[in-house]
Amino acid sequence: MTPFCWDSCKLAIFDLDGVIVDTAKYHYLAWKELADALGFTFTPRHNEGLKGVSRQRSLEILLEVGGLTHAFSPGEKEKMAAEKNARYVAYINNLQQDEILPGSRALLTGLRAQGIKTALGSASKNARPILDKLDITPLFDIIIDGTSTQKAKPDPEVFLLAARALSIAPENCVVFEDAQVGIDAALAAGMRPIAVGYPGILTGADLYITDLAQVQCPSRLG
Ligand code: BG6
Ligand code: MG
Repeated sequence: MTPFCWDSCKLAIFDLDGVIVDTAKYHYLAWKELADALGFTFTPRHNEGLKGVSRQRSLEILLEVGGLTHAFSPGEKEKMAAEKNARYVAYINNLQQDEILPGSRALLTGLRAQGIKTALGSASKNARPILDKLDITPLFDIIIDGTSTQKAKPDPEVFLLAARALSIAPENCVVFEDAQVGIDAALAAGMRPIAVGYPGILTGADLYITDLAQVQCPSRLG
């Protein structure tokens, strides 16, 4: 367990893909299939730059990797993004309950039991069906996702909307993120970022953990 000071925390905000559930791999596979069809190699390393990024922006980055930045019209790009999403949704339709990441359910439940609010802060437009599939929708006091935001991370909008909806000041919020743009968004929001994932990739966080099972729940209200 990683020692963690919950003293000033009133709201814990969680990214979805790669923090709560192991879906980041499906985003990667769906983008890789598109790259394969376009004839270039798309590696996990390339994929790091897509984490946390909106669907349309992800496509732009992918096309840059393939040297195809100016090769397609806006209509063609829209079609490619829709194809990627169809592939991703096919993976999600087979999502199993055990693909929830270690510690997610216990931490959400434990925080709520101690009076700390919980929020989802995700760029994904597929967030709600995923939470429903895992039976964890009721574990969030508020859900802010790609359908309720205008600006993509690293803009702080997604996290600030969650805090405002629950009338909690940014300095009383912690954000769990596996993407650099998400950590940057949390910092821009004036919140405390916790990096979830492989050490050495993410910078700027207060604390680095490999999964939520490493986080110690508060034992009593501060
Ligand atoms: C983020 C993922 O959570 O959501 C990104 O990290 C993804 O990889 C983004 O592109 C948008 O997701 P969706 O499901 O709306 O395409
Ligand atoms: Mg993520």
